[in-house]
Amino acid sequence: MQQIKVLGARPHDVDYLTQLRLRTIHQHIRNAGTDLSYEEHELRARTRLECCSILSLGDRTVGMIKVVRAAGSWTIEQLQIEPEFQGRGIGTAVVRQIQREARASGVKLLLGVLKANPALRLYKRLGFEVLVEANGIVEMQSAA
Ligand SMILES: CC(C)(COP(=O)(O)OP(=O)(O)OC[C@H]1O[C@@H](n2cnc3c(N)ncnc32)[C@H](O)[C@@H]1OP(=O)(O)O)[C@@H](O)C(=O)NCCC(=O)NCCS
Repeated sequence: MQQIKVLGARPHDVDYLTQLRLRTIHQHIRNAGTDLSYEEHELRARTRLECCSILSLGDRTVGMIKVVRAAGSWTIEQLQIEPEFQGRGIGTAVVRQIQREARASGVKLLLGVLKANPALRLYKRLGFEVLVEANGIVEMQSAA
């Protein structure tokens, strides 16, 4: 695979990030029984923008990841890959890189995923273990 480039998000990326949410995570949230408005998606895109990176392959923007780095633990808060680029190993490569960085920094790596989201399988495959499951959300920690 070509090298995935990771660039810090800027305020002008919020429109793209909101549209990306509508193309990717919106349906999963809806399937879980919550229908977020455009404004609610925009707020989630804007929140902790300083922790957000835009992912690209060559000249194509392929998605985003938001990692909140606190003392002692990091949390992958959002990860979205453009539909046409899903299933090609990009999510795997990006999460593995964060796992390596978290390990090197000696911090826990956490995330939460909707129970019905197929991404749960991906995280289990990458060595995340279930900490707790409540209200349709599975909280996980990387054991890798
Ligand atoms: C989940 C996601 C980030 C994975 O990135 P990716 O580059 O597609 O992943 P990879 O190609 O490395 O791995 C494929 C795995 O991702 C998961 N996946 C694939 N398409 C998916 C989709 N549309 N939605 C959720 N998960 C998906 C599956 O677990 C798949 O493996 P499997 O079918 O063999 O179990 C990406 O599919 C996506 O953006 N999905 C929609 C948004 C989302 O659900 N984000 C995660 C929120 S916690």
